[in-house]
Amino acid sequence: MQEQTVTSLDRRRFLRLAATAGATLLAGGAIAGCSAESTEPRGGTPNAASDQSGDSTAATSPEANAPASPKTLVAVFSWSGHTLQVAERIHELVESDLFRIEPAEPYTSDYNAVLDVAQREQDDDYRPALAASVENWDDYGTVYLGFPVWWYHVPQIIKTFVTEHDLAGKNVVVFGTSGGSSIAGTVPDIEALCPNVTISGNITLDGDTVSSQLDRVDAWLGDLGLR
Ligand SMILES: Cc1cc2nc3c(=O)[nH]c(=O)nc-3n(C[C@H](O)[C@H](O)[C@H](O)COP(=O)(O)O)c2cc1C
Repeated sequence: MQEQTVTSLDRRRFLRLAATAGATLLAGGAIAGCSAESTEPRGGTPNAASDQSGDSTAATSPEANAPASPKTLVAVFSWSGHTLQVAERIHELVESDLFRIEPAEPYTSDYNAVLDVAQREQDDDYRPALAASVENWDDYGTVYLGFPVWWYHVPQIIKTFVTEHDLAGKNVVVFGTSGGSSIAGTVPDIEALCPNVTISGNITLDGDTVSSQLDRVDAWLGDLGLR
């Protein structure tokens, strides 16, 4: 697994949270192929984290990636509602369906406790069951996939989601919120599970100030050529 640097901004902002929780930073994990089962042991160093400022990409021309199906889905996991705000903004701006990715067994609403739960899930490469699956998944050509950064990675439920919903052949765009880490650092988690996926862009917004930054989403969608 590629080792990446944690910026000083991340350290200041996120370690403060972690210190409050008495939690330790987690090692990132080697991930098995595009399947619901993980066969490799976990290990290594935390995955990417980078400054959020100007953190958005439109890496691949959407035309080059043109999906066969015109329907668009915004699928989001959001524990405390920040990333949901971004999802709702995209849903407002782009003709789309909105799907909440939720665990069958809800997470605790206690912040310190969920830090520990998320850390344990990563340690064990545990895949929480989904409360529901997307109906008519094959109808969607473009998928906006959103989630918060959890311990420098995708929340484990996103791994469940992408192993149960085949992203191959779809135009996939990733968005998220965090306390300083970049969502770009989580993209390898998705690519490792689904080697055939093409992710055409990503954006990270600061969780605490998300409501005042939503106009960045408008500009980003414009850059992607998706609105
Ligand atoms: C379990 C957990 C792990 C987190 N890990 C990180 C992290 O690695 N880097 C970071 O910048 N923020 C981290 N955060 C902060 C969240 O990414 C941030 O608050 C986000 O906006 C929450 O989005 P949500 O309201 O959609 O759940 C973490 C928060 C939680 C609860």
